[in-house]
Amino acid sequence: MDGMTTTIAPVLILLGPPGAGKGTQARMLEEQFGLVQLSTGDLLRAAVANGTEAGKQAKAVMEAGDLVSDEIVIAILRDRLAEPDCAKGVILDGFPRTTVQAQALDALLAESGQRINAAISLDVDDAAMVTRISGRTTCGGCGEGYHDSFKQPKTAGTCDKCGGTEFKRRADDNAETVASRLEAYHAQTAPLIDYYARAGALSRIDAMGEIQTIATDLAAIVKTTTA
Ligand code: AP5
Repeated sequence: MDGMTTTIAPVLILLGPPGAGKGTQARMLEEQFGLVQLSTGDLLRAAVANGTEAGKQAKAVMEAGDLVSDEIVIAILRDRLAEPDCAKGVILDGFPRTTVQAQALDALLAESGQRINAAISLDVDDAAMVTRISGRTTCGGCGEGYHDSFKQPKTAGTCDKCGGTEFKRRADDNAETVASRLEAYHAQTAPLIDYYARAGALSRIDAMGEIQTIATDLAAIVKTTTA
C-alpha cells in the first residue's frame, strides 16, 4: 500500500459471514459514535455501477460470490481512507477478507504509528444467513438496510431515514451465490479470527439475537477499546 498521511482514529473491524449484520451494525455505530462506515462491498458496487476499470474486473467475480482480487480491493480502500472524513475514525465492514488484506492494513496504519483498536467477530449460524440475506432490501435513496421480516420500515414502503420509497435487492442475494459467499468466508476470511486473536485485538459477539441487543454489546466493546 502507498503511504498514508492522515491519522485515522479509531480503526474498528467488523468480521462475519454474509448476512451476519455487519452493515446493519456499522450504520448504527456510525450514528452513535460519529465514525465513518467503510464497506468494501458498497465501494465495489459503486465502481461496478460507475463502470470504472476496477468495477469492470469486479463485476463477474461478485456475481459469482467469489472474492475480488486483493490488489483491486486494497487500492479502493486505500483511496477511500485518504479522504478527510476518515480522520474521525472508521468502521471497516467487509475488509479485510484475506490475510494479505489484513497485513496490508497493518502496514498502512503502521506508517503513521497506528494500529487497529479492535476486530469484532459477529458469530452466527450459516443456516440462518440464507434467510437473512434472501429477505434483505436496501433503500435506494440513502442505503439504509431492511429485512422483509426482521427489520421493516415503521411505515410500509417508506424509508425511516430519508423518506425514500424505492427499495432494491442486491444482484448477489440469491441462494446459489450466498452458498459461494459463505464458502469464500470460511476458506479465506474466517482465518482472520485467529490472526486478530494472536494480535490481542479480537472480540467476539453472539450475533444470532435481536439487532438492538447486538448493538448494545457492540457499543460496549467500542467504548472499551477506544477509550
Ligand atoms: P459485501 O457487500 O461485503 O457483502 P457480505 O460480506 O456478503 O455481507 P452482506 O452485506 O451480505 O451482509 P452483512 O453482514 O452486511 O449483513 P446485513 O447487515 O446487510 O460483499 C459483497 C461482495 O463484494 C463479496 O461477495 C465479494 O465479491 C466483494 N467484496 C467485498 N469486500 C471484499 C473484500 N474485502 N475482498 C474481496 N472481495 C470483496 O444484514 C443482512 C440482512 O439481515 C438485512 O436484511 C438485515 O436487516 C438483517 N439482519 C441484520 N442483523 C439481524 C439480526 N440480528 N436478526 C435478524 N435479521 C438481521
